[in-house]
Amino acid sequence: MCGIVGYTGAKEAAPVLVAGLRRLEYRGYDSAGMAAVEAGSIELRKQAGRVQVLEELLRWDPVAATNGVGHTRWATHGRADDVNAHPHVGGREGRRSVAVVHNGVIENYAALRRELEAEGFAFRSQTDTEVVAHLMARELERGDEPLDALLRVLPRLEGTYGLAMVTADRPGELLGARLGSPLVVGVGEGEHFLASDPVAVAPYTANVAYLQDGEAVRVTPRDFEVRHRERGPIAPRIDRIDWKPDAVELGGHAHYMLKEIREQPDTATNACRGRLVRAEGSARLGGLNMTARQLRRVRRVVLAACGTSWHAALVGEYLIERLAHLPVEVEYAGEFRYRNGPLDDRTLVIVLSQSGETADTLGALRESRRRGHPTLAIVNTVGSTIAREADGGVYLHAGPEIGVASTKAFSAQVAVLALLALHLGRLRQLSFTEGAAVVDALGSAPALIGEALKAEPAVEAAADRIAQARSVLFLGRDLHYPVALEGALKLKEISYIHAEGYPTSEMKHGPIALIDPQTPSVFVAPRGPLHAKTLSNIEEVRARRGPIVSVGLADDEDLARLSDHVLPIPDAPEVIQPLLAVVPLQLLAYHVARIKGCDIDKPRNLAKSVTVE
Ligand code: M6R
Repeated sequence: MCGIVGYTGAKEAAPVLVAGLRRLEYRGYDSAGMAAVEAGSIELRKQAGRVQVLEELLRWDPVAATNGVGHTRWATHGRADDVNAHPHVGGREGRRSVAVVHNGVIENYAALRRELEAEGFAFRSQTDTEVVAHLMARELERGDEPLDALLRVLPRLEGTYGLAMVTADRPGELLGARLGSPLVVGVGEGEHFLASDPVAVAPYTANVAYLQDGEAVRVTPRDFEVRHRERGPIAPRIDRIDWKPDAVELGGHAHYMLKEIREQPDTATNACRGRLVRAEGSARLGGLNMTARQLRRVRRVVLAACGTSWHAALVGEYLIERLAHLPVEVEYAGEFRYRNGPLDDRTLVIVLSQSGETADTLGALRESRRRGHPTLAIVNTVGSTIAREADGGVYLHAGPEIGVASTKAFSAQVAVLALLALHLGRLRQLSFTEGAAVVDALGSAPALIGEALKAEPAVEAAADRIAQARSVLFLGRDLHYPVALEGALKLKEISYIHAEGYPTSEMKHGPIALIDPQTPSVFVAPRGPLHAKTLSNIEEVRARRGPIVSVGLADDEDLARLSDHVLPIPDAPEVIQPLLAVVPLQLLAYHVARIKGCDIDKPRNLAKSVTVE
């Protein structure tokens, strides 16, 4: 949540900051701003609205400095207006000693604000961040080195932060710090960057140093210095970003969401690459860091995640139970971390997160590890906090996901969970023949997802109808129940139409009361053992004149007879059907939002990476 970018070098900073903020805008888009040091004074430009508004502001009121920090905000404390936009300046009697941008929440800001106000610091905003700026200003008054001043401020802050700042007396020098909210240094030739996500610096350098919790950094055009707030100087490790900068370009697609939906054949290929072992009818997942013997001891699996990742985990529950005969519980990470659920030493805890930075999921990981459980993570973002803190895990290799509505990450998570279920199954009762069939199914998934994408014209026709609705039900059974939940989440997130997902069998226990000619039901109904029962449920909705959209096989005549629209997917082995069935539902949400004129990649009130509780 919130995007941070900083630059110091020989270039004019403002265009670099604006370009970086554009790439980070998916992390928050309430307001945007920047600060830079010019002739010993801090220049501030900030305004409510998108990065484009900041760009226009800079056009008629330019800043020529070659250093600066920028921010795009997702409001937590104080409305999304000009005053609360970051950066925030600190200093006594209107002096601008320091300008700060912040991602996270300072939980003790109210007490710190009272303390600073009593000492004569005047506050302008309602944000928690402004206390950091004034605390810094107070420390700088002592005349110490800015990094020393920052290291004295950090222990006063409770909560989470990724911070970046410039000080009036040190043009060309940036400061940064992190605790629970990501910050990287981009390492260039004669220039350096700070960013909350490497995406911001990818066009300039592939070399990044990830800060760890408790670390602060001083960055100049020539070098950078990292210090831990308790342990002193740290030798930074430079990592290389393994994706190309154009991975975050639209590449001719109207929206990132559409691009990412269409990338899903490649997503499935990349998630399975090098991990399918046909000769053993199994999967190879080296990153788990667990021996076959340790995995065989597992008697129960707990999966913890949020949002779309939680839905993927639910597919994982069905797959692991089916292939490995292990009991699985799927927990909301935000609940798991504060519950005192029993975990014994034969329980395997796995957290799932696309971003690897979700605060609730990170909290679940830390709670599980605190209790002494080796905890694994299924993560997309390489080098993210969850990836680094887990005891082992599996990367999704889905590439950067920019659309706020998660799509390809879901597919990658489902594919990885299928690999895990296969691996756990082959260590137990799953025969070679059964395992080999799963390997073949996963191997065929990319081509079949490509077929499912051909449903788009049928989806567009159905979308016209759904766009008129005020409320939509999504129904599916067995492996398709989580797919129905995901279809409902996608629709509500980007089109703002109320949508609920249920197991099809639950409909008659309550939701059927909602059915009328204005309330469509979307059934996920490929052929399978429960298909006849699903057809009966569709009949029940039809008897009540409810419009019906179905995801199913093109040659399913019974389904076609009962449905107003069929969104066709190809026939496929059951274990990979969720990967196919979700595609038309993602496209349906996309086209409904397009018809309604919604801001598809930046839906209201949301942000890509939820780094606050
Ligand atoms: O990055 P994560 O997978 O941890 O994110 C979890 C949720 O915040 C995320 O899936 C959210 O629900 C998306 N907006 C769904 O489209």
